[in-house]
Amino acid sequence: MHLETFATENASRPDVSLFEMGPRDGLQNEIAVPTAAKIALIEALADAGIKRIESGSFVSPKWVPQMADSGEVLSMINRREGVVYSALTPNVKGLELALDAKASEVAIFGAASQSFSQRNINCSIEESIERFIPLMELAKAHNVPVRGYVSCVLGCPYEGEIAVSEVARVSEILYKMGCYEISLGDTIGVGTPLKARKMLKAVSERVPIEKTALHFHDTYGQALANILACLDLGVRSFDASVAGLGGCPYAKGASGNLASEDLVYMLHGLGLKTGIDLIKLARAGEQISNQLKRINGSKVANALLTTDVA
Ligand code: HMG
Ligand code: MG
Repeated sequence: MHLETFATENASRPDVSLFEMGPRDGLQNEIAVPTAAKIALIEALADAGIKRIESGSFVSPKWVPQMADSGEVLSMINRREGVVYSALTPNVKGLELALDAKASEVAIFGAASQSFSQRNINCSIEESIERFIPLMELAKAHNVPVRGYVSCVLGCPYEGEIAVSEVARVSEILYKMGCYEISLGDTIGVGTPLKARKMLKAVSERVPIEKTALHFHDTYGQALANILACLDLGVRSFDASVAGLGGCPYAKGASGNLASEDLVYMLHGLGLKTGIDLIKLARAGEQISNQLKRINGSKVANALLTTDVA
């Protein structure tokens, strides 16, 4: 990509959207986080200017007990106008709970790997799609937008390499079912820039690029480079997690999503506008990291906060 041309062409486009994953993808991996701390995090993120926050997950509490209080979290947050508070819903039961808690939108999650699908949601890819059909119908009846995740787009913890044709196939199915955006998950963060770009190109032949999002975990430290390698293809929606919180309970060893602060810093450096106050975002990440007694996983936050700009 020619960065100078890219920056000039995009100078007047304020349309980069960050979907904050910390309260869900981040905290689903942390044991015993008080409900009040989750609420404080979500409110601090909204205060920093984040417009889309994945705030919980209506999955089986036996599978992921960390998310068992999602109903309370969603019901108790002070909501800001214009902010989307979303939740994961694997089936109709999850959607019903999300509707009760007034989630602004929900997300279904499938995979491009059969083994991961089986371990994560206890069914094959085909069975998951069957399960999603009544969920999509119910969501439509309630006018609730549905986002779709595809996991393992750059590799699987159980199967290794995943064919991009399979990623594109599953993405197209979820898009045609009515998902308004398809978030492409490098669940275990193994991708590298050229692979990421090839994968996104293949998906964009089946799903319009402006309906795709990148959800890259940062296990191997490649997520930022992978996003940069994909930017000029036209993707403008990115998932990230404040302070790099998280992992995936069904992908052992995977680390959290790319840190939101690191992504925002790079996007701003490229002249792309996010509407996010980076210092406030860094403080939100620091607060939850302290609460969890965890080292802040954002390099940018660590630099900003120690140079006392905050
Ligand atoms: P199952 O055991 O096959 O489901 O699990 P079931 O329908 O047979 O139900 C079993 C029990 O769960 C029943 O309760 C149900 O009522 C209950 P029991 O009779 O035993 O007391 N149940 C539920 N409870 C609450 N909410 C629900 C729900 N559904 C059933 N929605 C199921 C199937 C999908 C439920 C299970 O496998 C599950 O919850 N999996 C979730 C796993 C998960 O949350 N993984 C992490 C999120 S995905 C991720 O992180 C990847 C992503 O970030 C993208 C990326 O990085 O690639 C999105
Ligand atoms: Mg994830």
